[in-house]
Formats: sequence, C-alpha cells, structure tokens
Amino acid sequence: MQKSVSRSARGQWGSTFGFIMAAGGSAVGLGNIWRFPYITGQNGGGAFVFVYVLCVLLIGLPLLLNEIALGRKSGKNPVGAIKETGGNRFWQSAGVLCVMVCFAVLSYYSVIAGWTIGYIFTELINIPVDFEDFVQTPAYVIPLCMLFILLTIFVVLGGISGGIEKAAKFLMPVLFLIILLIAARSVTLPGAGAGIEYYLSPDFSKINGKVILSALGQAFFSLSVGWGLMITFGSYLPRDSNVIQSSGWIAGMDSMVALMGGLMIFPALFALLPGVSPDEGPALVFNVLPRVFDQIEPFGNIIGGLFFLLLLVAALTSSISMLEVPVAYFIDERKWSRKKATWTIGLAAMVLSIPSSLAAVKGNFFNNLGFNFFGRQIAGFFDMMDFFFGTLAIVVICLMLSLYTGWIKNVKEYASELAMGSSSFNGFPKKAWIFFIRWICPVVILLVLLNMIGIFGEPGEGG
Ligand code: PHE
Repeated sequence: MQKSVSRSARGQWGSTFGFIMAAGGSAVGLGNIWRFPYITGQNGGGAFVFVYVLCVLLIGLPLLLNEIALGRKSGKNPVGAIKETGGNRFWQSAGVLCVMVCFAVLSYYSVIAGWTIGYIFTELINIPVDFEDFVQTPAYVIPLCMLFILLTIFVVLGGISGGIEKAAKFLMPVLFLIILLIAARSVTLPGAGAGIEYYLSPDFSKINGKVILSALGQAFFSLSVGWGLMITFGSYLPRDSNVIQSSGWIAGMDSMVALMGGLMIFPALFALLPGVSPDEGPALVFNVLPRVFDQIEPFGNIIGGLFFLLLLVAALTSSISMLEVPVAYFIDERKWSRKKATWTIGLAAMVLSIPSSLAAVKGNFFNNLGFNFFGRQIAGFFDMMDFFFGTLAIVVICLMLSLYTGWIKNVKEYASELAMGSSSFNGFPKKAWIFFIRWICPVVILLVLLNMIGIFGEPGEGG
C-alpha cells in the first residue's frame, strides 16, 4: 500500500484570507460577467434572476459547505476524498466526473477568454469590431485561445500561491470598481428604464423547468460548486479555520459581481441596441459592452481596454483552478509529477478547444453539429459542451455528493467538521444544514432532472 502524503506536506493556505481570495478568485470569472447575463437573457430576465438567487442561497451554499467539509476532512482531491472516506467505486465516479468536467470546461472557457484578449486590444486601439466577423475568423480566435491556455499552464506549473494570487488580491477590487462605474453609466443612459425593468421585475409566469435547471446550473457554475474544486481547495485548509464565514464571503462576492454584471448589460442593451434580443446567447456581452464604452466620455476606450484586461485576470484565476483539479488528481492518485500533469492536461485542453473555437464559424461542421436532448435543441459543439459538462454533469455531481454525505456517510460527522473553527454553527444552523443536505438539495435536483427528461408532463419543458 502506498503511504498517503501527510497534510502539511501537501501544502496549506497561508491564511483564511488567502483561501477566501483563491476560492473567490475561482468563483468570480467569465461565469459572472459573460455567462450570467446571457443565460438570464435566454431565460426571460427578472424571473430567472429571482430563481437564481434562491438557488444560490438554498442549494448552492449548503453544497459549497458540503464540498469544503469533504475536502478538509479527507485532505484529498475529489476522487481521493471519496476513497479516503470509504466510498465505493460508484461514489468515486462522482470524483472522476469532477476531473472530467474541469478539463472539458477549461477547453471552451478558454475560447471566451481568448475573445476577451482580442477585445483588450480592439478597445485600446479604438477600432470598432464586428463580433460576428471576429469570432468567425479562426486565424485570430484559435491563437488567442492557445495563448490563454499557455498562460494558465505557466501559472499552474509554478504552484498556486505565487504572483497570481497576490495580483488577484489587488486586481479583483479594481475590477469590481470598474464594474460599478460601467453599471452606473448603463443605468443612466436615456431609455435604460426598460432594461432595468426587464432585469429586475420578475414575471413569475415565465418560471418553468427549463428556467429552474438553467438557474441551478448557473449557480453551480458560478460558485465553482459541483466541480470538486472546493473539495480540492478545502483540502488545503487547516482544521481550525472558519469555513462558514469563508463560504459566506465567497458566495456573497460571487453573487454581487454576477448581479452587477447584469446591471451593466441589460439597461444598456435596451437603450443602445433596441433591435437586439436579450436571448442572443454568448455574443451578448461582447456586443453590448463596446457600445457602452463609446458612451463614456472621456477615455471610454481606455476604460474598456482596462475592463477586458481585468476580466482576463478574473478568467485566469478561474482557469488555473479548473486546471488544478485534474492536475491534483494525477499527482495524488497516479503519482505524476506536477510538470507532467500540467503539460499533458494543458496541451490536451488546447486540442479540445479547437472544435469549440470553430463552432462559431457558420456552416462549419462543428457549428452544424447538434441534436435534440429530450426536447431541448442543442446546436453546435460549443453548446453541447456547455450543456453536458457546464450544466448537466455538475448538477449530477452535486446530487451525488449530497447523497454521499447526507445518506451514505454519517452526515453528523460532516456537520461537526464544519463546526470546527466556527462554533456558532452548532445548534440551529447545523441542524438546518443537515436537513438541506439530506432533503432539500437532493430532492430539488432530482425533481429538476426528472422534469428535464419529461417525467412530469411535456418533455423538454425542463431542459
Ligand atoms: N466559477 C467560475 C466562473 O464563474 C468557473 C469555474 C468553475 C472556475 C469551477 C473554476 C472551477 O467563471
């Protein structure tokens, strides 16, 4: 039998603050600023935002704590954590799925990050770009995406705690300030009212199974929950750290940035691009924001360039954590060196990113791919990846992990793990958490999944 590596030899966060910044840096990324607004637009606006907030508070937060508890208790990567706590192969497969999800999402996440790099330059030099033309030019998009993955590889090679963590501590607050500034400009544009109303006043009749699945998927995507990331990061935590407070900070920061992201986009969309529909998909942010920067005087283009630069940093603190999960798995479980694991997985992600880049080119094979999944039309390679890995798989992982700690293991042990370092968790919050992990989380997720495959009524409504 191989001896397991001791906790301290695996490395630990320097401080709770360091953990909050790293986990917060992972959570805040393209998911908040690019994905949240377009998913909101595809799901009817305010009603989606309402369901999203409920999903974060009632399902996301308990599951975030669940992953941190698993990680800190076992001191392992997602597969190792389940093995270490005595889970059989079936439950370990949830860990394997985590590793696959991180790898798969990294490949298409990098495509969007590559677009962001392109927009830094076009804003700074102040040349208007036609988004459609830009993304349909593989000669630009593919090298930019590769560049982004290379940056990610270099950071992960050096270990997490080097320059990027320090830089993120300073740059993330700056990003937040710029978002505030842009949102302020957006809501004060003439004609912004319609967008504010679309975004913030929920029309409850629009809530259906599809909206709930999308909100749940988006909550998990954005919080970095359901990827084994919080297991991995939790494993580097000392046993006496206050994880309850940290989780509150992570979820709070992440939700604030997402909600502000929507406030940047929708008022400006209705005011400046009345012909464009909010449900146009991944292009949304890239079409709207440059128009807002044009409306900021003076230095609009500098602010625009700076915004995309900071968005790139936010994407990088997310992508490094995405790469870190498979890397930690291959180091712990397959005894690879960090160098071998990082290069192998990074280069493989580069290869897999190519079809996602090409999926934006109209008429291309990867653009034409698509099929019907229980009534839900999935068009193009990019959408397929985002649906299967970026939504469905993470929802399934969350279901499995809540069943695992809630029913297979002694849930009280995990609740006590959480209370270590945060004694105020004892009593009602602890009981509530147990109830949520055993009942609310799995039942809601299961209902959403069953609805998606058409168990209740019309198939497709839910997916
Ligand atoms: N939460 C990140 C975002 O919103 C995505 C992510 C998920 C990053 C999981 C790392 C791990 O962009």
